[in-house]
Amino acid sequence: MSIKTHREPIVILISGRGSNMRALIERSRDAAAGYEVALVLSDKPSAAGLAAARDLGVPARAVVPAETADRAAYGRDLAAAIDPCAPSLVVLAGFMRILSAEFVARYSGRILNIHPSLLPKYPGLHTHRRALEAHEAEHGATVHFVTEQLDGGPAVIQARIKVNPDDDEDSLAARVQTEEHRIYPLAVRWFCEGRLRYAEERAWLDGTVLSGPVQYDEIEASGGR
Ligand code: GAR
Repeated sequence: MSIKTHREPIVILISGRGSNMRALIERSRDAAAGYEVALVLSDKPSAAGLAAARDLGVPARAVVPAETADRAAYGRDLAAAIDPCAPSLVVLAGFMRILSAEFVARYSGRILNIHPSLLPKYPGLHTHRRALEAHEAEHGATVHFVTEQLDGGPAVIQARIKVNPDDDEDSLAARVQTEEHRIYPLAVRWFCEGRLRYAEERAWLDGTVLSGPVQYDEIEASGGR
């Protein structure tokens, strides 16, 4: 006999390849995941992740900004596509478009993003190049709540990698992505289990405010969470 457990619906927004989206869909099928991917949306019809989502059995379509549409109008178009799914969480996975203040307010405390740096270091673009140029010893990825401040919302979890002397942008990006695929499904699961939430402009985990992001290597070391 199979026992059906409740899974919170989530919607994923992408712009490209969708490797994080794939990791999220694959992990959603774990018995303990607590979430299911109801829909994948892209601002680009050519995003490879759209076909990948359909291959995995998840509805996926593009919501393309009209040439004349401003950020607020596009946000309303996105919301019109998202709302029929009544998602508990909107998950940005390589969605390379700045969302309107109205959109962020509509899903306040219910939008997560993953960013390829150890925030607050290197918000914005070209994070791997900038980390190399700065001769960083460490680099990584951060999951954070989305607020109106670009890449500035409260951080939830971070994974770190060492930067090797022979690293280039591609090798760094590949190792950071491997870590992203570990931390993003975990953060989404925490949220959908009701353990992670956004309140008073902070991230809370298990009823305690996070003074900084959870460090993934510490979870691994302790076998916890
Ligand atoms: C990921 O590395 C993600 O951190 C980054 O885009 C990549 C998407 O890859 N996001 C940002 O830079 C957002 N500012 P994917 O399409 O293979 O998941």
